[in-house]
Amino acid sequence: MKASTLCVCTLLCIANPGLADEPEDVIKYRQSMMAAIGGHMGASTQIVRGKVQPEGHLAMHAKALAELSGDLGVLFPEGSDFGETKAKAEIWSKPQDFARVVADAKTATAEFATAAAGGDAAQIAAAHRKVGEACKACHQDFRQKDD
Ligand code: HEC
Repeated sequence: MKASTLCVCTLLCIANPGLADEPEDVIKYRQSMMAAIGGHMGASTQIVRGKVQPEGHLAMHAKALAELSGDLGVLFPEGSDFGETKAKAEIWSKPQDFARVVADAKTATAEFATAAAGGDAAQIAAAHRKVGEACKACHQDFRQKDD
């Protein structure tokens, strides 16, 4: 990399902290994060329903879910609402409502991680259900339906 390129990049990075990058890259990153969340949630559901019993995995999936969902708001910077995305315009036009579902997802996944680490089946089932509700609440209002 040329010194001048490095210099421009450094300047841009300082001027644009966080995810203020190309919209299509932000969208791709957001969808990859959601796919990862979907993977851990799907795996958790199989374990919680007793379909599989891989030793120690539930706590791992729940912890990953909590970490991946700790700050979902950062995946939705202004300007990432066009292109190949299912994110609805309401994310930016109703920021308070959106902030609430982001916060609910953080709380629900953190509680699930605590329950999974604790090992109480009833608590785990209840916390898992709450996570599912948190996903659904946001998707219902802020994600476009499949065509
Ligand atoms: C705060 C809102 C919000 C929460 C909470 C949320 N999602 Fe999403 N999710 C979205 C939006 C918006 C999209 C569409 C993103 C796009 O197309 O740019 C999406 C997309 C997805 C996708 C499709 C990813 C792809 O490949 O394009 C999956 C799978 C998914 N979410 C799973 C989950 C699961 C599982 C949970 C709960 C653990 C969850 N989401 C919680 C907003 C949310």
